[in-house]
Amino acid sequence: MKGPIARTSTLAAMLLATTACATAQTAPVERAPAAQATTATVGTVPIQPAQPEWAARDAEMDRFLDELIGKMTLEEKVGQLTLLTSDWESTGPTMRDSYQEDIRAGKVGNIFNAYTADYTRELQRLAVENTRLKIPLMFGYDVIHGHRTIFPISLGEAASWDMDAVEKSARVSAEEASAEGIHWTFSPMVDIARDARWGRISEGAGEDVYLGSRVAKARVEGYQGDDLGATDTVLATVKHFAGYGAAQAGRDYHTVDISERTLRDVYLPPFKAAIDAGVGSIMTSFNEYDGVPASGSKYLLTDVLRDQWGFDGFVVTDYTSINEMVAHGYSKDLEQAGEQALDAGVDMDLQGAVFLENLAGSIAAGRVSMDQVDTATRRVLEMKYRLGLFEDPYRYADNARQEATLYKPEFLEAARDVARKSMVLLKNEGDTLPLAAGAQSIALIGPLADSKPDMIGSWAAAGDRQTRPVTVLEGFKARAGRGVRVEYAKGASYEFDAEGKTDGFAEALAVADRSDVIVAVMGEKWDMTGEAASRTSLDLPGNQQALLERLVATGKPVVLVVMSGRPNSIGWADENVPAILHAWYPGTQGGHAVADVVFGDYNPSGKLPVTFPRNVGQAPIHYDMKNTGRPIELGEPGAKYVSRYLNTPNSPLYRFGYGLSYTDFAYSPVTLSAPRMGAGGSITASATITNAGSRAGEEVVQLYVRDLVGSVTRPVQELKGFEKVMLQPGESRTVSFTLEPEDLAFTRGDMSHGWEPGEFRLWIAPSSGAEASTPVTFTLTE
Ligand code: NOJ
Repeated sequence: MKGPIARTSTLAAMLLATTACATAQTAPVERAPAAQATTATVGTVPIQPAQPEWAARDAEMDRFLDELIGKMTLEEKVGQLTLLTSDWESTGPTMRDSYQEDIRAGKVGNIFNAYTADYTRELQRLAVENTRLKIPLMFGYDVIHGHRTIFPISLGEAASWDMDAVEKSARVSAEEASAEGIHWTFSPMVDIARDARWGRISEGAGEDVYLGSRVAKARVEGYQGDDLGATDTVLATVKHFAGYGAAQAGRDYHTVDISERTLRDVYLPPFKAAIDAGVGSIMTSFNEYDGVPASGSKYLLTDVLRDQWGFDGFVVTDYTSINEMVAHGYSKDLEQAGEQALDAGVDMDLQGAVFLENLAGSIAAGRVSMDQVDTATRRVLEMKYRLGLFEDPYRYADNARQEATLYKPEFLEAARDVARKSMVLLKNEGDTLPLAAGAQSIALIGPLADSKPDMIGSWAAAGDRQTRPVTVLEGFKARAGRGVRVEYAKGASYEFDAEGKTDGFAEALAVADRSDVIVAVMGEKWDMTGEAASRTSLDLPGNQQALLERLVATGKPVVLVVMSGRPNSIGWADENVPAILHAWYPGTQGGHAVADVVFGDYNPSGKLPVTFPRNVGQAPIHYDMKNTGRPIELGEPGAKYVSRYLNTPNSPLYRFGYGLSYTDFAYSPVTLSAPRMGAGGSITASATITNAGSRAGEEVVQLYVRDLVGSVTRPVQELKGFEKVMLQPGESRTVSFTLEPEDLAFTRGDMSHGWEPGEFRLWIAPSSGAEASTPVTFTLTE
């Protein structure tokens, strides 16, 4: 990041001048002392107070804010701690009078769900022209995987294992969103998710700590760019802090009960990575951690976030999550909930209006101090200052820029490119894919083959669901070329109540009968993942499985393209369908991207960021599990008293890190720079990867490590590095990974963070699973 925004604020000067005679309600706040350097550690990342460049002190800003806060009434301060939604419709936002009133009265300092240059300018005008102190509004929005140009869902982007692609998606999102007046996105969502029942698994980067941390960093850098004050960047929010993905039984909003060690080693590191990348705000989660709702958790919001990590941005709650502390049974009423949240470290209340309606009473009763309110107010105002809003509140509401920016051809091209990079080839028996050049007729079957709304998945808030998305049918027709007939029949439905019905089958089978090859596009409806979209079955919903079986029974070659936001249990397809491509929800250009892969214009390179279970009974399942005292491998085949199921193997259907290509890659044995490393040292592991096939292709080369013995038990494998390399046919490349002792650190038996001497196993492989390569061992010494 470049230096802080140093500008002499004209509006700032005006504000101070025009309010000079206003009654000062409080003395200027004292700056909180800088976070102390600490040797404590959390997660796999040592705690060093983060200090992004944007957070560097700025004397002019401090002077300005001291003076401004000194003039603010309590009500005006609480307004800055309040974030309310504007009203909006699917066709675009509309104003609601009550919000206009709240804005005019200075009761709300931040608005979400408002966008377009015109609308945000209109709302901003209400604040700047009507309130006593003319403090500009900050506009937030859920810009999750694209704003207007929609990229693949976040889980799909993670499947690209391509950090440039992930960053590019966030960059384009920021350019489009900021051109429509948005200052702030509620992204990235970095919740580790290991239970495919949980609908929000689609919103994050999957199950892994290391991959999740790399993706978190790429997204923050894409949104915020080099300069938070530039008009084409947006403030990012890392969410949901913390542990949300561990919802029991995969049911959204459900109780979380994980050990502190698991919290530190698994759930927290992606947040720390986002903070190290300079994220400016953080959103609390709906769940409780250790019996305390996250929005009331001083441990999370102050001890970890501020004292240990030195986070310098502001904390916003999730939607009404302060109010929900009453339902959790942690607060007796909203007044107490507000007090607990502020005391825990919340700065801004999203939609709950708890601060708005209760903080004044809490102050009057002496249960909340003005210092606490001032600290939170300053954090919010600092960010407005750094965004440049005091200089020009309308600087993001620029119609000409909006006109020139949305859906730029280069954005659409980027969305198509990221989409094809995200797709994972799960099976390709007999080189069924890419489609043979000689195929004269293609039967395109299934409820997702020609469905615009589904293409962009959930959390595509400003995305056009009705007209813009390119469906698979459209993509195929555009690509197939002269003389190739592409015939479509929906055939089946993904709606739950379609199970058992067969209407539509006859038409689909007739189309299949007169075609050379069948491409079935099946999966889940777009809103079957995302918030409040948990399932107790991972099967293809509706009557899709039944139709798929009928299609396979025709004896024609079948390709299954899966569109979904979670791992589905597609074991039958794995056994019976020759080719399977996972396309997630690929976004606005998704149909073209699917065609690029299916017709062979792009060689698939994605790898799974989540383990695919065989069936729902294996959930939660993840590649870095513990060995147990009775690992199945140690027993005789079929042994009873080992850790296993009676009816399903322990192994997943598809491993984390797995994905095929149209070419083949050969891995050499691993070499180590030394057999041991000590404190302050490092070790380099290398393997030579050769493209042994006849097509150029990209391979995600993965480094795994196992710590054999620890003061607490260690996972059987942990991803510690990856690199995506492009290789021409016959080309070889040596890929090297350098590890330092700190890379092997974890929360030890005594809860300290650090590494331990001992033996380690290491391997470089095309996927997780030690059997994918021959491990070498090294020793870590004191
Ligand atoms: C609730 C969701 O949990 C959160 O991710 C989102 O940012 C807010 N609603 C605002 O829409």
